[in-house]
Amino acid sequence: MVLVSSSFEGETDIMTMGWHMVMGFEPSLVGCYIWNANHSHALIRRSRVCVINVPTVDLAETVVDIGNCSGRDTDKFEKFGLTPQPGVMVSAPLIAECVASFECRLADASLIDRYNLFVFEVVKGHAAPSAIKASPRTLHYRGDGEFMIAGETTRQWRRRFRPEML
Ligand SMILES: Cc1cc2nc3c(=O)[nH]c(=O)nc-3n(C[C@H](O)[C@H](O)[C@H](O)COP(=O)(O)O)c2cc1C
Repeated sequence: MVLVSSSFEGETDIMTMGWHMVMGFEPSLVGCYIWNANHSHALIRRSRVCVINVPTVDLAETVVDIGNCSGRDTDKFEKFGLTPQPGVMVSAPLIAECVASFECRLADASLIDRYNLFVFEVVKGHAAPSAIKASPRTLHYRGDGEFMIAGETTRQWRRRFRPEML
């Protein structure tokens, strides 16, 4: 689960997002399903940028609540007590309480009308030292109101990888 933050002409918004995927490594591309009924859709389409923020389990209630209301008539940063931090490469704000944030620019708008699929290029990444040292306890949505919390990690199968696959 990630939180997508955006801004356009002084207005900011945040949405919860579970539907995303890697679409390329060089440049780093991420595909995001952003429903056209979401206010974030309009802000991101106009500004052509967003930030993908990674929350941990301590923010679980906030993540669900953010995904169950619209920023059309509320400031979600204020409502949920989150801290906007200026982006380095984009006009959208980072969420300071998240362990990692990826500043993104819209790389391909051709699938938005048909699929609500935004293809972003990650232009800058930020990660808290704690997230680099140890695996953060991230949230993963299984549908029907059920989440999985990241747990055990292992390098047990690492030697089976071809080097270029790492
Ligand atoms: C667990 C969860 C996962 C969600 N995943 C997505 C998603 O992948 N794409 C999407 O468009 N909306 C998703 N939503 C719904 C949006 O987060 C929700 O419509 C959001 O509140 C829109 O806010 P906005 O109108 O301020 O943009 C999800 C909501 C929840 C609770």
